[in-house]
Amino acid sequence: MVVESVRARAVRLAAVGDLPAYVYDLPGLRAHAGAVQAAMAGSAEVFYAVKANPAAEILRTLRPFVDGFEVASGGELALVRELLPDAPVVFSGPGKTDAELALALDPGVERLHVESPGELARLIATGARLDILLRANPDLPGEDVRQAADSPFGMDPDGLAACVRLLRDAPRITPHGIHAHLTWGRHDAPAMADLARRVAAWALPWLREHLPEVTEPELDLGGGMGVDYGAPHTRFDWKAYSAALADLGGSARLRIEPGRSLTAYDGWYVTDVLDVKRTHGRHYAVLRGGTHHLRTPVARGHDQPFTVIHRATSGPALTGTATLVGQLCTPKDVLNRNAEVDGLRVGDLVAFGLAGAYAWNLSHHDFLMHPQPSFHYVDGP
Ligand SMILES: Cc1ncc(COP(=O)(O)O)c(C=O)c1O
Repeated sequence: MVVESVRARAVRLAAVGDLPAYVYDLPGLRAHAGAVQAAMAGSAEVFYAVKANPAAEILRTLRPFVDGFEVASGGELALVRELLPDAPVVFSGPGKTDAELALALDPGVERLHVESPGELARLIATGARLDILLRANPDLPGEDVRQAADSPFGMDPDGLAACVRLLRDAPRITPHGIHAHLTWGRHDAPAMADLARRVAAWALPWLREHLPEVTEPELDLGGGMGVDYGAPHTRFDWKAYSAALADLGGSARLRIEPGRSLTAYDGWYVTDVLDVKRTHGRHYAVLRGGTHHLRTPVARGHDQPFTVIHRATSGPALTGTATLVGQLCTPKDVLNRNAEVDGLRVGDLVAFGLAGAYAWNLSHHDFLMHPQPSFHYVDGP
């Protein structure tokens, strides 16, 4: 379902030929971020993962509702510093260059998340004074951490032990705790809470044993709270998650870094139908634009939910099962496969929902050199 203000803007944009477009509902974003903030108050700090959507309007809109921002590159760090110079930042990301490590000396960087002993050694060599968390990828029980265990991110117990040795001779580097982003796209809050419990049950004793100088431990539990693209009206249960975290770490300071689950809901990719056709027994609606603007369904292998805004009154109409595709010369340019449509015509509008995160910024814009979409931040009814 597309909200009324976005629908009205989409129709106006179509009238002046300004499609495709990304249209964001800022009051909706404020309401959602405010609800997350209220739910998490008292259990964990919320740092928005900028990689999900780094648009300036989105960052400014979120600022009152988050404790800070998680950045994963020098580019993201520079952007946040320029737009929101007072906002606290934590700096993650694999493969940090020396230039990026130098940027981390910015006093706005509260914590740098160390990915490897090699990275820590380079950090120590700068001679700088820095506050860090060690990014851990520990041997936790449970199938849900398999994907993380098979990834290059963070450190296993051997890597962490190497960091402990390096820290002994690095008085200017202060460790504060553990960072553990171990899952992606989990919309089940009790399962996420259970993962947080396993992280805390491992991390807090590990810190006591290996880094006893950390007297006020911090646990950054990462992001990964999911968005269910197959059930666009459902949302992660922040209250249940927060309640579970509240009695998790004793005196540990907790932080989370959600990205997708904060910004996905309030962005739409709106376009119009260029052609309807039947070939080899299948119906297709060919849309202006495509997955070079909204790569999310290809990247994740899902069907992007959508709403049709009927405008056309004549021409052949498609009713039944159809696949919605874009303008690219690749069979992978599919936004929604085997969707049910009712009277879809050339000239009708299609508004794809849940397009506010990992959407435009994830896409290969220049492929085929079609025009880029326009961007609209609707702030009002
Ligand atoms: C370290 C880290 N933190 C936070 C996030 C944000 O995750 P999500 O957008 O799934 O909440 C990611 C995503 O990859 C990440 O790698």
